[in-house]
Amino acid sequence: MNPVTKFFPKSNSLPIDKFVYNALYKKNLGYYAKKNPIGKKGDFITAPEISFLFSEMIAVWVISLWEHLGKPKDFNIVELGPGTGKMCFNMIRVFKKFPSFLASCNFFLYEKSPTLKKLQQINLSGERINWINNFDKIKSGKVIFLGNEFFDAIPIKQFKIIKNKIYEKYVKLGNDYKIKSFYKKINSNELKVIKKYNCLKKNKFIEYPKEGLRELKIIIRKIKQLDGGLVLFDYGFLNPKNNSSLQSLKDHKKNNMFTNVGNADITSLVNFSLLKEYFENNNLKVNDIVTQEFFLKRVGILKRAEIISKKMNFREKSNLYLRLQRLLNPKQMGQLFKVIFAFKFKKNFLLGFN
Ligand SMILES: C[S@@+](CC[C@H](N)C(=O)[O-])C[C@H]1O[C@@H](n2cnc3c(N)ncnc32)[C@H](O)[C@@H]1O
Repeated sequence: MNPVTKFFPKSNSLPIDKFVYNALYKKNLGYYAKKNPIGKKGDFITAPEISFLFSEMIAVWVISLWEHLGKPKDFNIVELGPGTGKMCFNMIRVFKKFPSFLASCNFFLYEKSPTLKKLQQINLSGERINWINNFDKIKSGKVIFLGNEFFDAIPIKQFKIIKNKIYEKYVKLGNDYKIKSFYKKINSNELKVIKKYNCLKKNKFIEYPKEGLRELKIIIRKIKQLDGGLVLFDYGFLNPKNNSSLQSLKDHKKNNMFTNVGNADITSLVNFSLLKEYFENNNLKVNDIVTQEFFLKRVGILKRAEIISKKMNFREKSNLYLRLQRLLNPKQMGQLFKVIFAFKFKKNFLLGFN
């Protein structure tokens, strides 16, 4: 049997989001289920793996938020999709310098991949951390959710609108074991849901993160119950284009997403305007969406780099600034990556956003 058949049901066809879900997360077979994809030896690299300064800035931001909220004695920090655990590791390193903050904090990691969860447990052994599959365990105190490249890893749906009729993108496995996409006319109720969003109204080709919004709904419920917020860092756009943003990477190079199924990453660009509308429709406040460059600079990444580089030799300094460039340069991650902060509490918190 050709191994690709294992990603398909008996009918050999399924909507694109279900196909991507199987390719990434199917038990024992999916890409994230089998291996750690992140880092030099993996297929892609993320900001926390590029420089510890990224996580340090988020740690500083979180401590400032805690102060802004009146230093609550019970403060929950939840990282969504923590990958190798690097961001959490480097944040805790900073938190340890602030004992009263540390004493007030509970740390939760929300991870889908059993393989990455094991790796996180190794990399964070000895730390006071709870791994969770849902948010029921967080019962009291304020809560802040953090996610770097979490949302882009959740499969999206794709639709085409022709003469007010809606067609969904499907994929089919042929007798030759080649995968092809096609469109299938579907129930127009889906069109009504999508057309509620102003940012999608004019588009004839639509990317809709149905599963991602379902995840956000649960997070929003927790934020409303306890007060707090959610910060997402991801690569994405403000104005949706009329084309597919799905992309696949293998060995740090572009890959055709219909090849190497289960052995290559598949992601999509995040529609930040849609996230903003979604949060606001659910009665959360949202600051202006900013770029990663803007956020990190406002929190003080350059100043911090200057201070720590004073004790470094030339080689170490060059390495530090090269990594900083990757995070901040508009042609690298600086502009394409955006930051959104949605929250429920009285007084706005603007650090990083103005
Ligand atoms: C692209 S990686 C980013 C990892 C890490 N945040 C970083 O920046 O290096 C996506 C992460 O989200 C996790 N993930 C994806 N969907 C998830 C879900 N629905 N629930 C929990 N974790 C999920 C993946 O297993 C992985 O840890």
